[in-house]
Amino acid sequence: MGNLWHMSEPTVYPEDLPDTNTVVRATAAGGPEVFESAQTPLPEPGPGQLLVTTAAAGVNFIETYQRSGVYPVDYPFVPGTEAAGRILAIGEGVEGYSLGQRVTTCEAATGTYASHFLVDAAKAVAVPDDITDEQAAALPLQGATAHYLINSTYRVSPGQTVLTHAGAGGVGQILTQLLKAKGARVITTTSTEQKAQIAQDAGADHVLGYENFAEEVLQITNGEGVAVVYDGVGKDTFAGSLKSLAVRGMLVLFGGASGQVPPFDLQELNKAGGLFVTRPALHWYLRNAEERTWRYTELFSALTNGDLTLNIGATYPLAEAGRAHEDLESRRTTGKLLLTP
Ligand SMILES: NC(=O)c1ccc[n+]([C@@H]2O[C@H](COP(=O)([O-])OP(=O)(O)OC[C@H]3O[C@@H](n4cnc5c(N)ncnc54)[C@H](OP(=O)(O)O)[C@@H]3O)[C@@H](O)[C@H]2O)c1
Repeated sequence: MGNLWHMSEPTVYPEDLPDTNTVVRATAAGGPEVFESAQTPLPEPGPGQLLVTTAAAGVNFIETYQRSGVYPVDYPFVPGTEAAGRILAIGEGVEGYSLGQRVTTCEAATGTYASHFLVDAAKAVAVPDDITDEQAAALPLQGATAHYLINSTYRVSPGQTVLTHAGAGGVGQILTQLLKAKGARVITTTSTEQKAQIAQDAGADHVLGYENFAEEVLQITNGEGVAVVYDGVGKDTFAGSLKSLAVRGMLVLFGGASGQVPPFDLQELNKAGGLFVTRPALHWYLRNAEERTWRYTELFSALTNGDLTLNIGATYPLAEAGRAHEDLESRRTTGKLLLTP
């Protein structure tokens, strides 16, 4: 069926291309029920692009914000920026990739809730042989996030005490493991006993509940507070996170799993000890090939040397993406969530 496209040479493609792409798309802003499965034309790789057959796609919190309308998108909308798979076709001008090679990405693709996706070859990441498809799909977004948070947003040093929320979550478990590998002391929060055990298994030194966590952090640190808080929970933890900081400490607000933080009076930072607050996002920390190579090289090496284990909390068939969102939003999940076509 290789006659689907009218591509100019030297695009490379095999003879047995499928006719269609199976996607899951949000038909309007709303709850998980707005998702539908659909068949759409197989996308054609433009210049510089790769067409990839999805082995597994990652589910991330940002897609719930896009589906629900917190982040504006045009509907119908196929979510997903993170997936791994094998190259099925290669666009004009791409060098260094071959058909069948495994790649992964979390930033240079769109619409990865699908059986096939396009990715900008310059930002795709070749998957080393000793990394499984599952690891390759699970690592990029949460792994690169944890990497930039502790190496670039606030560079954690050995011996420092750090507070990071939701320690049984996807980013939370990776953050804890990478922080421990750096020699930091990790305090984290979780909402249930079962999640507390998971956070502890990931290496957390102190696992707290959310109630009164700031007071407990001050006790653990002999009244000093921590140098940095990594807060992806947002609305419900923001005030306590500020209270947990040492003088001139930094609150890194990197998400809003409990809701977005409302407008805030900057004088509060002065009163609480000349604090810093930043609201980073991954794309500001994958700015060029050098940064990308640095982060992925360290992450792949952490996987192979045993510093990092990826905990796949659940894998759902692609058509059940709505159930994955429902579970993620209702705090039922731990670790990474994957979709398989
Ligand atoms: N800025 C960036 O670059 C970036 C990149 C990736 C992810 N993120 C953010 O990082 C955060 C974590 O992402 P993730 O994919 O790893 O998710 P996750 O941590 O696996 O899931 C979110 C967790 O947040 C906790 N939580 C606390 N209050 C909650 C509430 N009201 N509703 C739902 N969950 C609540 C839950 O753990 P407990 O039940 O234990 O509290 C829940 O399991 C998200 O806010 C996401 O947007 C940001």
